Amino acid sequence: MTYKVKDIKLAPQGKRAIEWVERHMPVLAAVRKEFARTEPFKGLTVGAALHVEAKTAALARTLTASGAEVAITSCNPLSTKDDVAAALAKDGINVYAWRGETTREYYSNLNRVLDHKPDILIDDGADLIFLTHTKRTELLKSIRGASEETTTGVNRLRRMASEGALKFPVIAVNDSPAKRLFDNRFGTAESTLQAIMGITNTLVAGKDVVVVGYGFVGRGIASRVRGLGAIVTVVETDPIKALEAVMDGFRVARMNDAARVGDIFITATGNINAIRGEHIRRMKDGAILCNAGHFNVEIDIEGLARLATKRREVLEDVEEFQLRDGRRIHLLAEGRLVNLAGRRSLGHPMEIMDMSFALQALSVEYLARHRGELENWVYDVPPEIDRRVAELKLKSIGVELERPTWEQIRYMKSWRMGT
Ligand code: ADE
Repeated sequence: MTYKVKDIKLAPQGKRAIEWVERHMPVLAAVRKEFARTEPFKGLTVGAALHVEAKTAALARTLTASGAEVAITSCNPLSTKDDVAAALAKDGINVYAWRGETTREYYSNLNRVLDHKPDILIDDGADLIFLTHTKRTELLKSIRGASEETTTGVNRLRRMASEGALKFPVIAVNDSPAKRLFDNRFGTAESTLQAIMGITNTLVAGKDVVVVGYGFVGRGIASRVRGLGAIVTVVETDPIKALEAVMDGFRVARMNDAARVGDIFITATGNINAIRGEHIRRMKDGAILCNAGHFNVEIDIEGLARLATKRREVLEDVEEFQLRDGRRIHLLAEGRLVNLAGRRSLGHPMEIMDMSFALQALSVEYLARHRGELENWVYDVPPEIDRRVAELKLKSIGVELERPTWEQIRYMKSWRMGT
C-alpha cells in the first residue's frame, strides 16, 4: 500500500468525519453488507478519481470491504479534505490527494492511480478515463469499464463514443433518474448555497441572484435560492429550458441584462466563459461570482483579471478584483465548483451521496460481472439498479410504496381495454 497525503497525523479527525457520514448512509451500508458476502471485486483493482471527502471515503471503504484493492485520487485540485485523505491512508487504501494540488501534481496523482493497473475506473469529470485514452493507452486492454459521476464527464464521454474513440464501456451514473433528480437538483442546490453562505456570511433574502444555466443543477439552485427569499433571474441558451424557467416563475434574461442587477451570480452551464469581461463590466460594486459546474471554465477569470487594477484575497476563499473605477467583484473558491472547493465546503449532503455512491458501487459491480459482454459505449445505469437504490432509500426513511392490484397490472399491460 502506498500513499501521498498532506499530513498523516490528521487521520483521527478524518476518521471521525467518515464514521459520522457512514452512520447516515444506510443505502450504501446495505450494499456493503451484500458485497461483504458476495465479494464481487475479489482480486480486482478499482482506480478512482473522485472528490476525496468523507462520503467518498465511505464508497472507497465499501469497495475494499468487497474484496477490491482501491487506488484513489481527487478529481479536483481543491476539493480534497486532507484529514479524510489521511484517514484513508491509515485504513490501508492507496490514496494520492491533498488540497491545493498544482496542475502538475493533479496529473501526477491521476497517473499514480493508473500505476496500480486498475481493472475498473470510477471517474468524476472523465479526466482519469481521458488519460487512459491519451497518455496511458497501454492500460486500455485490461480495463473492464468505468463509471462516470457527473454531467460534464458524461457529455465528454458521449462525444468520445460518437467519434468511435471510446475504448471500454462506461456507465453514465450521472444520467440515472436516481442521481439526476436528487443529487444534481437537491444535492447541488443545498451544498452550493451552504458554501456561498458559509464562505461569505451574506444574507440571501432580498438579494438579486442570477443562475446561469437551467439544467438539473440550475433548476435546483434557482428553486432553493428563491425559497431563501432571493429574487432570481435565470440565463439560458436553450429555448425549452428557458421556457421552463419562465413557467417555473423566474425572470429570464440575457447575461448582459442580468449582469446589471445581480448581487450573486452562480454558473451551472457546463460550458466555457458563461460570464466574461463584457458582463463583468456591467456588474454592481460588491457582486459575488461563483461556479457550481465541474470545471473552472465557466467564469472567465483571466478576463476578470485583465479588467482589474488590484487583486487580493480579502477572506478565506474570497478573492477581490478591483476594477479601474473602484468597483469590486468577488470571486469565490477560484471559480472552481464552490460546493467542494471552498476550505469548509462540505459537498452534497450525506443522504444524497448515499444514493449516488450506492449507484456507483452497484454500477461497477455490474461492470465486473459483465466483463466482455458490453460494447465500447456509454450505457445508462440498468433500470433495476436505479429502482433498487430508490427502494432501499425509501425503506431507510420508513416510506412504504403502494402496491398495484392484479387488476391494475393487467390493465396497464393491455391495449384492448379502453373505456
Ligand atoms: N462528494 C463527493 N463527490 C461529490 C460530488 N460529485 N458532488 C458533490 N459532493 C460530492
